[in-house]
Amino acid sequence: MKHQININVNGDDYSLSVDPRQTLNEVLREDLNLTGTKLGCGTGDCGACTVLVDGRTVSSCLTLAVSVDGKSIKTVEGLAPSGEELHPIQEAFIQTGAIQCGFCTAGMEMSGLYLLNQNPTPSEKEIREGLSGHLCRCTGYNQIVEAISVAGEKMKDSQTKEVES
Ligand code: FES
Ligand code: FES
Repeated sequence: MKHQININVNGDDYSLSVDPRQTLNEVLREDLNLTGTKLGCGTGDCGACTVLVDGRTVSSCLTLAVSVDGKSIKTVEGLAPSGEELHPIQEAFIQTGAIQCGFCTAGMEMSGLYLLNQNPTPSEKEIREGLSGHLCRCTGYNQIVEAISVAGEKMKDSQTKEVES
């Protein structure tokens, strides 16, 4: 039997009829066509499917869609809603060369954003701890750690500009 759920994704409200076994990852990718969120392992081990639910990181592959009824979800598409201006964390990933195949990138950016929201100036150790649930098969991690650090600086600068303007 299908269940009706109401969710907000990247600022838009959706009312969806979902199978009780459907994961949040399936709903995002298959029902809403938000394919920026990836499906890697499907078992909670790689972090590629990470999204924010009510501001906290979750593995969308392990999260049943029915369990997020009434909640707000942010995916990588929500970082640059216009599709033109990138979020500082996306700029930082490009600037530091932290993207190769890109499969891990969306999840890394969502966890990076969560970390920077908690701690705007994390140390290298804190960044590595914050990304410890993520696997990257391409970059060797160093550029990704640098990207999060650069993103923290960029986000601080843009907040300063907002306060000054
Ligand atoms: S796909 Fe969800 S943690 Fe790997
Ligand atoms: S850039 Fe390829 S898995 Fe990370």
